[in-house]
Amino acid sequence: MTDALPPIPSRGLPLSARAPGKCIVFGEHAVVHGAPELVFAIDLHTQVFVRAGDGFRLNADPEAVSRNGYFRSAIEQSWVGGPPVDVRAVSRIPRAAGLGSSAAFTAAVASAFAAAQGGIDRPALAQRAFEIERGAQGVGSPGDTSTVVGGGYLAINGGDGEPLWTVRAGDRRWEVRRVPDPGWVWVVAHSGVPRSTGDAVRAVGRRLEQPDGPDLLAEFARVAREGIEAVARSDRDRAAELVRRNQELLREVGVSHPRLEALLEAGAPAAQAGKLTGAGAGGSVVVLPIPGREAELVRRLARAGGLPFVVRADLSGVSLVE
Ligand code: MEV
Repeated sequence: MTDALPPIPSRGLPLSARAPGKCIVFGEHAVVHGAPELVFAIDLHTQVFVRAGDGFRLNADPEAVSRNGYFRSAIEQSWVGGPPVDVRAVSRIPRAAGLGSSAAFTAAVASAFAAAQGGIDRPALAQRAFEIERGAQGVGSPGDTSTVVGGGYLAINGGDGEPLWTVRAGDRRWEVRRVPDPGWVWVVAHSGVPRSTGDAVRAVGRRLEQPDGPDLLAEFARVAREGIEAVARSDRDRAAELVRRNQELLREVGVSHPRLEALLEAGAPAAQAGKLTGAGAGGSVVVLPIPGREAELVRRLARAGGLPFVVRADLSGVSLVE
């Protein structure tokens, strides 16, 4: 079942698609090793415009196929033998910030290409977007791409709802389930420190091979499992406790950063809890505000040098634009 989200319909070029970014609340990194994760699609978007061209171009760059791994991977995996296309991408999601800019670009381009080839349903699109992103990054889980395809809050390898779909890579599989939207507003803030998802994922993989790795992974899994339950029943106080615990674990595996810690400290008086979100080692934090103190939280994060955004869940996921 696809939770009533419509398939991407068939449509000829030129066309446009847009996809939300994402924010991981629990379980980043551990999800790569099979633990649960909770992610929601955020209401910041990337929109792509695709038309026939006389060469493959992204934002007018004729070298984009060799320069941009996501664009190359999308063409190689979902536009095989297709005619040259000119793609323009416009985004409000800061890049390399842990907020899903690459997943949003990937899902939007994959949807546009699929529409031009007869349309696609959501489970197949989730699998395809994951393969494109993995083709570019070399590592990772389908959490980001599934979330921008499915919208709302999703649990990967966790939760007790009916699976929306299963994503596969070789003999690995990740089950993706819907979690009810608690309707919360969050504040995310980009530290301005760029980072590489692939490098951070590999570093955490090495850390988890240490003797205490299995215990750490089990604790990541417990926090995410209980966090998914807390969000599903809109238990904000319990979710906040688990957000704090998740940040301690992320520190322990080495992916926090002094700039992220400074942002969390600056926001703390107006926050119930906060943590890094995404691959870490730079990138962004996600903070659950004390209700009514959102504006103060935004001011605090901005004064501390962050680029804050107030976000809530995008419930539609990727879609074509009329
Ligand atoms: C990156 O947004 C999240 C990671 O868990 C990597 C992944 O799941 O692909 C760090």
